[in-house]
Amino acid sequence: MRIPDITIAIDGFSSTGKSSFAKLVARKFGFQYLDSGALYRAVTLFAQERGLISADNAVDPGLRAALDSLEVGFGPDGRTFSGERCIEDEIRSMKVSSQVSPIAAVPYVREWVDACLHRMAAGGRVVMDGRDIGTAVFPDAEIKVFMTASPEVRARRRFDELAAKGGNPVYEEVLANIQQRDYIDSHREASPLRRADDAFGLDNSDMTMEEELAWITGLVQGKFGIL
Ligand code: CDP
Repeated sequence: MRIPDITIAIDGFSSTGKSSFAKLVARKFGFQYLDSGALYRAVTLFAQERGLISADNAVDPGLRAALDSLEVGFGPDGRTFSGERCIEDEIRSMKVSSQVSPIAAVPYVREWVDACLHRMAAGGRVVMDGRDIGTAVFPDAEIKVFMTASPEVRARRRFDELAAKGGNPVYEEVLANIQQRDYIDSHREASPLRRADDAFGLDNSDMTMEEELAWITGLVQGKFGIL
């Protein structure tokens, strides 16, 4: 099946499995995968390492100019790099997770990330995941998906992910972090998380990845009349 040159936007709450789903779709369709959350996480690590965000989440306005020197990219295996340095593990830590939503609420940070995404997506045939891809970054994306799952299912998934990496996560902390990010992400002024009017909803609380893939394949086939 030849998939047309389209953009696929996958948005939704934290730990709904957006990135696993987006990666699978990218592999299956032969598309490029862009992880917008990784860019926000990279900015957060950058701000933390330069002392540009305080313990109570106050962001130093110096971050704006400092971002000129930040270059984030993805390796062939999808790992995130800051210049030559692989930051994949650090950006997934609880330390970064605990400050990423305040960073992502800063309008100039969002502009910086949006510009990166547009540059990286210039070739087309991309699948992107995030919070505002279908509403703000690529409002013309041909296929938009909005993913949901219950907070407990999501916290369990994130907990298992952190534990598998050899961490020592505390379930209650992971759940609290997810709920806190849900709240900040949906209540911020700049591009809050909301479902685009033309997005297809996908609640994957009880779905396997194969079922998710069959679902989106059917959707693309239906929309473009391909068999
Ligand atoms: O994987 P997980 O759901 O934990 O989050 P992520 O996709 O890595 O994104 C981390 C954080 O970045 C989110 O909680 C949002 O605060 C922010 N974000 C955003 O504001 N807009 C996006 N397009 C992507 C992420």
